[in-house]
Amino acid sequence: MIISAALVTLGAGAQPKLTKDNIDEVLKAMTLEEKAELVVGAGWGSMTAGSANVPTGSASLVSGAAGTTNPIERLGIPATVLSDGPAGLRINPTRPGTDKTFYCTGFPVGTVLACSWNAPLVQELTTAMGNEVLEYGADVLLAPGMNIHRNPLCGRNFEYFSEDPVLSGKMAAAYINGIQSNGVGVSAKHFAFNNQEINRNENMANVSTRAAREIYLKNFEIAVREAQPWTVMSSYNKVNGDYTQQSHDLLTKVLRDDWGFEGIVMTDWGTKDGTVKAVRAGNDLMEPGADVEKSRIIAAVKDGSLSLADLDRNVRRMLEYIVKTPRFQGYEYSNEPDLEAHAALVRKGAAEGMVLLKNDGVLPLAGVQNVALFGLNAYKSIAGGTGSGNVNKPYIRNIDEGLAAAGLKIDEKLAKFYKDYRTYTESLDALNATEAGGPFSGVLLGESVLAEVGIAKSAVEASEKRNDAAVVVIGRNAGEGDDRRVENDFELTAEERALLSNVENIYHKAGKPVVVVLNIGGVIETASWKNLPDAILLAWTPGQEVGNSVADVLTGKSYPSGKLAMTFPVKYLDHPSSFNFPYNGQDGVFSLTDEMIGFAALMGYEYTPQPVKDIDYTDYSEGIWVGYRYFDTAGKEVSYPFGYGLGYTTFAYSSPVVKVAKDGTVSASITVKNTGSAAGKEAVQLYVSAPAGGLVKPGKELKAFAKTRELQPGESETLTMTVCPYSLASFNEAASQWETAAGSYTVRFGASVADIRATASFQVKKAQSWPVSEALAPVKEITEISVK
Ligand code: BGC
Repeated sequence: MIISAALVTLGAGAQPKLTKDNIDEVLKAMTLEEKAELVVGAGWGSMTAGSANVPTGSASLVSGAAGTTNPIERLGIPATVLSDGPAGLRINPTRPGTDKTFYCTGFPVGTVLACSWNAPLVQELTTAMGNEVLEYGADVLLAPGMNIHRNPLCGRNFEYFSEDPVLSGKMAAAYINGIQSNGVGVSAKHFAFNNQEINRNENMANVSTRAAREIYLKNFEIAVREAQPWTVMSSYNKVNGDYTQQSHDLLTKVLRDDWGFEGIVMTDWGTKDGTVKAVRAGNDLMEPGADVEKSRIIAAVKDGSLSLADLDRNVRRMLEYIVKTPRFQGYEYSNEPDLEAHAALVRKGAAEGMVLLKNDGVLPLAGVQNVALFGLNAYKSIAGGTGSGNVNKPYIRNIDEGLAAAGLKIDEKLAKFYKDYRTYTESLDALNATEAGGPFSGVLLGESVLAEVGIAKSAVEASEKRNDAAVVVIGRNAGEGDDRRVENDFELTAEERALLSNVENIYHKAGKPVVVVLNIGGVIETASWKNLPDAILLAWTPGQEVGNSVADVLTGKSYPSGKLAMTFPVKYLDHPSSFNFPYNGQDGVFSLTDEMIGFAALMGYEYTPQPVKDIDYTDYSEGIWVGYRYFDTAGKEVSYPFGYGLGYTTFAYSSPVVKVAKDGTVSASITVKNTGSAAGKEAVQLYVSAPAGGLVKPGKELKAFAKTRELQPGESETLTMTVCPYSLASFNEAASQWETAAGSYTVRFGASVADIRATASFQVKKAQSWPVSEALAPVKEITEISVK
């Protein structure tokens, strides 16, 4: 009988149970149908345990997760759970049949993390975040969001890091390493060129290979090389011809052959035609998964149009992923992560991503007791954005609550005025809220952060008599499925302008300080009004502790040490990309696509046609001239430059030391000294300028950065940053290779891109090149702007 048992294990129809060591054997035992099951997710229904299509074993699945993979019980393959991201774990906070709650910490959004310029801090925060992923029973966090801020109006920029690929890539790597240190995975998204929300399902990015490699893919390359994400999420849109999910160039040649990615690729959530092409391209998992996708795969293998080898390759990668998951390993999760400890981390960490844009000596507030607190978002503050990036957090600490808890007295009349207005609009919100348990549960729409309520001048005057200082909070929110507008969003509303100017006049006449707090998710126009207040704190949307974090900074219990991860232009149209971006107010009125109408209905609102450009395609005519690469090189005036941010102290930079090792690695050191009278941290940026000749390059490019620990007055720290020859390279399209020219390079140590504190130079003795796959050639001729 022993002999026949062995035959059962090894022979046809065998039923091995998956272990990390028998993937080949399991693959061999799988039927074609089972293989199709494994590369197609368990469907929209898998989002909510208890609903009709939840796969077997649903009792152990996580309510409100974005999806699951299919289990194959016969072979010991469990379902695994995929859940959003990126500002924390997004699951349903309540479940039928239990009073227990399942709230998750609302962490600072991606933009705030990037503005910290502190990779170890990001890793510390995401280590805590990953613990919630693990303890709530999920296997993969659908994060980080890491598309480049090509344009300030992209509705999801808050989820993303930066306009710069090095900052974005390093932050993503830190983020991924933090999450994955818990033994759960991430899905770095949206790969790639998902730089706008309008028509995101069909829009085609027409982009030069150089801009693609240097700007939009470089951050993913860094993240893959430095952190090996378990999974990558292909985006909805197309690039240079194909949907990214169906681009063999992108998913196989670039991601795997060139960069050495070892994980799986899953689609963003939807079902497209071309499933078989996606399988061939190296898209291993269709999410959330539909039966039609399985049928297509099975039929294509049967009729020979899809090779079994291609399918098996993806199935093998799925199995390799599954054996790593906590669910496979039978991890017994507690459903009880330490939310209090994580909230404390968020409160503290947020200040590092807040950027002090202006301070004429009024911050931290001194001798202030009574505060006139203006602005709707002071009383209902914004912790993060909307859409799949929203987290169901236990609470949001509002700014008024934070300031009150810090001992300040908030003017009661103003508070009542704003709260009453809120109560009124809230009843509207309630109408718009989608049902809990749905794909976008918990997202409140119609929350009119833009409609800043007008407040009479007389009321401002009266408030001045009762208070020592005015704090004006300006809020902006955005999210998945739509981009922002120039008017009343990027630009201030008329009510906000009137409020700012009245407050400025009245309070300044009385010699009282005026502070503006920006509780916003994306860049706004600042040039026209920044002269009015004495101080401007860009608090961003820094997570559930927003009020406490802002209060800590305003009162000096902590200090802001963030710097801008993007440029604040003078005018929207100063960005070269704005001429090829929807809602630029320039031309055309688009017609609604079915996808957009459907999405709007799902989200509970109606699209209104707007003047818009580029519905079917977007020409990336600005090429590599994105963000500061353009502004700095072209000498174009900005409101606040990339890398800019003040603190409560000042720093001096010593003379730099730059050395080149035998292998060409440059190490650049500088000592930073706290020369002021308060504690602080300084983020130092290393920009490199390449020698002339060869490829046209931006005047400066960020190559490395580092942040000091907390320095007390008089203390100093030496920071050392390294740059390897490959990261100095630019992409030569004609030769399909990265090239580092020989010659003299200038290293600039900046407090921002516009504030260079020290320079040095080094020689690259021999030119070097790194050939890569020929991939992603544009299908349409793109006329790029030239800057130099
Ligand atoms: C979003 C992704 C998200 C997914 C699952 C999509 O609509 O674009 O970022 O991870 O939904 O919720």
